[in-house]
Amino acid sequence: MLRSVRVRALADFGRGSAPAIEEVFAAMNETTCNRRRFIGLAAGGAALTAFGARGAPSISSSGKSLSPEPSAAFDPDVELELTAAQSTAQLLPGAPTRLWQFTGKVLKGDPQALTTLPGSSLPVIRVRQRQRLRIFFRNELPEESIVHWHGLHIVQKMDGHPMYAIAPGQRYVYEFVVANRAGMYWFHPHPHGRTGGQVYRGLVGLFIVEDDDAQLGLPTGEFELAWVLQDRRFDAANQLVYANNRMDLMMGVTGDRILVNGRPDHVERVAATAYRVRLLNASNSRLYKLAWGDGRPLTVIGADGGLLERPIDKPYVMLAPAERVELWLDLSREKPGAERVLRSLPFSGGMMGMMGSGMGPGMRGSGALANGAAFDVLSVRVDRVAAAARALPSRLSSIPWPRIEEAANRNAPRVIRLEMGRGRVALNGRTFDMTAVAHDEIVKLGTTEVWEFSNAGPMSHPMHVHNLQFRVIERLPGRGLASVYDTMRAGLVDEGWKDVVIVMPGERVRVLMRFTDHAGLYLYHCHILEHEDLGMMRNYRVQP
Ligand code: C2O
Ligand code: CU
Ligand code: CU
Repeated sequence: MLRSVRVRALADFGRGSAPAIEEVFAAMNETTCNRRRFIGLAAGGAALTAFGARGAPSISSSGKSLSPEPSAAFDPDVELELTAAQSTAQLLPGAPTRLWQFTGKVLKGDPQALTTLPGSSLPVIRVRQRQRLRIFFRNELPEESIVHWHGLHIVQKMDGHPMYAIAPGQRYVYEFVVANRAGMYWFHPHPHGRTGGQVYRGLVGLFIVEDDDAQLGLPTGEFELAWVLQDRRFDAANQLVYANNRMDLMMGVTGDRILVNGRPDHVERVAATAYRVRLLNASNSRLYKLAWGDGRPLTVIGADGGLLERPIDKPYVMLAPAERVELWLDLSREKPGAERVLRSLPFSGGMMGMMGSGMGPGMRGSGALANGAAFDVLSVRVDRVAAAARALPSRLSSIPWPRIEEAANRNAPRVIRLEMGRGRVALNGRTFDMTAVAHDEIVKLGTTEVWEFSNAGPMSHPMHVHNLQFRVIERLPGRGLASVYDTMRAGLVDEGWKDVVIVMPGERVRVLMRFTDHAGLYLYHCHILEHEDLGMMRNYRVQP
């Protein structure tokens, strides 16, 4: 059945000539129909694997644990133990769900440096800028793993590159100084070819760098909320289902249940006051088009790399895998009993959208809910009064943006073509190689560059660059694709520091980045985790 899926008209990458985008869409439409049939057939069959139904095989040790011992010269402010292991949780009525999760404890420093989100087992590391952090990561999983600190500006050996993956039973010692601006970053496994499966099973955590400057007076403590959005598919025995065939991996895995902070049917009980809400899309491949059910705008105050310069109202917010956004949620005019629903609106993201168009709006359908379909994400219920809310500051921060004039290649951006076709995804015709760096993947330490992500394919790709935050400077929509572009553009938060950027079908997105402090080997990749695992990831090297 799967073999009958045809992708012949997709971008013929590596040879330069991309087919017309209409052709690509036509081919994907065909593929989509085949895929729907395939899912229908496979739902009761053996083509999809329920985790735990058969144990994952152990991976033999690569013997590459380069950082097994703590260094005597490093005196940490905060020392943590973080373990990745199998566990279970009661997520749905009936049988508990088998998961893989991070647990940990604080060995030294502020006991609040590692907590879990309220009502959830999702870990939150909370530190301040310039703190020295040591983390003992223990791999108690049945396969290799390594932890990546997403968004952090960090030396190569601490970045969780897949070359540092450790075998079951081993540990990796992280030691680094928190260099990032205040903001919400996160962590997840990054072993090559296994990131999607490991995140899907539950391995994810938040990494919050707290504001130095408390003068802003943004809500804190119980008035600061975090929502981690993920979609999952469960089988009849309440176990997670993850695709194991190439076509599903190509399309990106989506689920038909939305989990917030690891739990279904999230209701946030709040007071009638103002909140700071931090959102992370930790889904493997789902894009959200977030909007309030009553149509009022969302007030955005932060992005991937912390606060914006000033609050901005958006009719909706696009949140691609790995992106974060911070909202100001003012409920001070509400009465107890009031309720607000956060929804994901329908959109057409090229192929993803076409898939969505054929599916109903219901969340509990049989197949996976397609990307682009509409559904409710969570609801916020006011159940108590509170002290008067503070006013939203009109100025949030000032950002010393790099300027385009500083770019060594301002008139000749480094172009990265995002390609899909013939059962493959690639960047400039190449797929991941553990240590390889091509001649055009070397940048110079201390320079500023323009990179252009150029999407010739039929899907949106959230492109991520390790070790830095960048500025989105230009979006050039593809010809004839205004309908796709218009369905998302008003919800893009390009006003802040970013480490992930949505690149829509046909679009070229230019970003400005500075390579500072660390020479070494870092990754750039699509953050649709199935694409990453299929090799839509490459190294770049910062040369001293
Ligand atoms: Cu969040 Cu290389 O990843
Ligand atoms: Cu990352
Ligand atoms: Cu992708």
